[in-house]
Amino acid sequence: MARPTPDPHLVFPAMPEDLPRLDVAVAPENPLDLLRSWWETVIERGALDPQYVTLATASATGVPSSRTVQLLAVEDDALLFTTNAGSRKGVEISQTGRAAVSTFWRESAQSVNITGDVVWADDAESDERFAGESRAVQASRSVSFHGLPLSDEIDQLERFAALRDGEDAIPRPDYWRWLRIVPDAVTFWEGHPEALNRRVHYRRVDGVWTREAIQA
Ligand SMILES: Cc1cc2nc3c(=O)[nH]c(=O)nc-3n(C[C@H](O)[C@H](O)[C@H](O)COP(=O)(O)O)c2cc1C
Repeated sequence: MARPTPDPHLVFPAMPEDLPRLDVAVAPENPLDLLRSWWETVIERGALDPQYVTLATASATGVPSSRTVQLLAVEDDALLFTTNAGSRKGVEISQTGRAAVSTFWRESAQSVNITGDVVWADDAESDERFAGESRAVQASRSVSFHGLPLSDEIDQLERFAALRDGEDAIPRPDYWRWLRIVPDAVTFWEGHPEALNRRVHYRRVDGVWTREAIQA
């Protein structure tokens, strides 16, 4: 029997009519203000996990890779994430200093694509943020290293439980860090009925943001 596949005509996303339309003339000067406003709106509307986004990196020789990560905060000039600095993405970020992020929110038929420089948080900030995590999260970060073979799962589970159930403070492993993507290009996309979608593209040059409507 043929497997059901999504019908692209049925699932084509179109913005709810009560949301404000993307309008380059009145869009904020700072694209992160618009990103925050879109993000807060989808959260208010009960979107399913809007904080999970795609983070793309490239190796020094240009081999791309991407994965899902959690967007922790939209700050005035940066997006905050946390990761293992020794993971593939962490190494690539350290090599190139660059990363890209993509979102898609079904509930609002909106998407945002971001490219920027990456700045690792200093040890003091990462220590403070790590101290604010639950013991289970701290323990799991301590016994798991992204990308290494899982050669002995029982041993890993035992070390995890011992840390989680112990009483001593769990120190942050030096590979577990927070980072910020400081965008220099941000493109907002909104889905319209009949596929006449709309985009606004922002670019930052010498610290100044410019924006234009582009065809979608
Ligand atoms: C819903 C979800 C949320 C995730 N959040 C993060 C995260 O915030 N940071 C992170 O490093 N990995 C996160 N991961 C795991 C990554 O997708 C990935 O497996 C891991 O970071 C290793 O990636 P890399 O080997 O490409 O560097 C998340 C995965 C999923 C599915």
